[in-house]
Amino acid sequence: MDTTQKNKKTRLLFVCLGNICRSPAAEGIMQTLVDKNGLQDIIEVDSAGTSGWHEGDLPDERMRAHGERRGYDFSSLARKFSKSDFENFDYIIVMDNNNYNNVKSMAINKEQEEKIKKMTEFSIQFKHHNEIPDPYYGGSTGFELVLDLLEDACEGLMHKIIKS
Ligand code: 4NP
Repeated sequence: MDTTQKNKKTRLLFVCLGNICRSPAAEGIMQTLVDKNGLQDIIEVDSAGTSGWHEGDLPDERMRAHGERRGYDFSSLARKFSKSDFENFDYIIVMDNNNYNNVKSMAINKEQEEKIKKMTEFSIQFKHHNEIPDPYYGGSTGFELVLDLLEDACEGLMHKIIKS
């Protein structure tokens, strides 16, 4: 991604609205890829929500159940995105356009704005999707679609980081 990152960890923060469905799933999937590929010294992951509605909560039980069926354990506790995250992370990776606009409104300079990426920028197979849709008010199909999109984009993101 950036040649200056070569000798240090790339810190990724996944962001959605509630931090109980999409971003903890992205964090869990990416952490699984990091572990499987022995990249613990290269990539660090975390997640947050633009709202603080579910602070301290485990991920939504529907997302946990769908994740479990694919072998994941989504168990990070929800927290709210804060301005200091711009300093503590290299990439702020948002799920949809609302997240993008909310996070961007908190950036104080161009450097911070440039850290914000959309998750779908990293898609390999699902290039026709330009958001990870909010599954909260929908059914099982929505959760499965989110996991398909996230697994694909996490793979793309990992390859981008290790190639840089
Ligand atoms: P997430 O999904 O942003 O993917 O965590 C949502 C979680 C909670 C709510 C909306 C979306 N909510 O309205 O409480």
